[in-house]
Amino acid sequence: MAQFDPKNLKTIGVYASGGDAPGMNAAIRAVVRTAISQNLKVVGIVQGYTGFLEKKFIPMDLRSVANIVQRGGSILKAGRCVDFLQAEVRKTAVENVRAAGIGGLVCIGGDGSFTGANLLWQEHKMPIVGVPGTIDNDIFGTDHTIGFDTAVNTALDAIDRIRDTAASHDRLFIVEVMGRDSGFIAVAAGLAGGAEDIFIPEHPFQIEKTVDLIKRGVARGKMSSILVTAEGQKPGRAYDLADSIRKHSGYLATVCILGHIQRGGTPSASDRLLASRIGSGAVEKLIQGQCDIMVGTSGENLVAVELSQCLKQKKHVNRKLIELAQILSN
Ligand code: F6P
Repeated sequence: MAQFDPKNLKTIGVYASGGDAPGMNAAIRAVVRTAISQNLKVVGIVQGYTGFLEKKFIPMDLRSVANIVQRGGSILKAGRCVDFLQAEVRKTAVENVRAAGIGGLVCIGGDGSFTGANLLWQEHKMPIVGVPGTIDNDIFGTDHTIGFDTAVNTALDAIDRIRDTAASHDRLFIVEVMGRDSGFIAVAAGLAGGAEDIFIPEHPFQIEKTVDLIKRGVARGKMSSILVTAEGQKPGRAYDLADSIRKHSGYLATVCILGHIQRGGTPSASDRLLASRIGSGAVEKLIQGQCDIMVGTSGENLVAVELSQCLKQKKHVNRKLIELAQILSN
């Protein structure tokens, strides 16, 4: 585990990066208030890595994070910065934060954000601790990421509503949820929402099997069905799926794409608790002189995992849950 000398750590910078996630504000609040309670100063960096380059640095005090624990989005904004792929740009970024007196950073984000953080330590020995914040839940080394629980509940609420109309009209629906590279939201919302089948980016469609499931349901008198798919690399994947089902069976499916509504909204209790615990834990690690790590959870415990491990290893969706959904939706 990487170490640095925390003796000269007087000011911590905090930023949110990548796609926003409900609960990021609760994490920012936890970072700011924990740091101030330990006599550190805090600077908020606005708009992720873009803020490093454009010197969007704002001093944070106890009041600047008042009344945000319940708010979705990120008061420090978020976003992806393509320029950060260039080493020269990263060098400028570190020079800017050091010139602002920042001696350590807390990065709230997903794998793209952690890749940048890891490089800033490797190349410039800028101490950073990561806080996993993405609705996708696809970060190795933590049970959950901030925003996942809220996103699943948002998707679930939509599935429940769609079920009402699907049942009233005897229809087959395909609900598309987020998840570019991973099917965590699809599997959780699909199983909890009683979906007949779930499609995830990690696996190709198995249309014959799905059509067979639907046919068997129809034979038993089942008049409506819901399928859940993750968007994968191409939002609108649900339309391809509907097309394929029509070609294989003649069934017409109605598509509902949930999109970015899953990224917004009031964070759930679970996300606020998670964000508060790991945001605070990240500051404590910096105070102890530990960096180039992510703070996450394993069961009830906080854990520290090297950023390189979080990036190297893949967190796998439990495919047994898809089989369970198929059985339980009978
Ligand atoms: O935040 C994660 C995520 O929501 C993915 O599930 C999705 O594929 C992606 O971000 C889309 O983000 P954007 O529209 O910001 O590129």
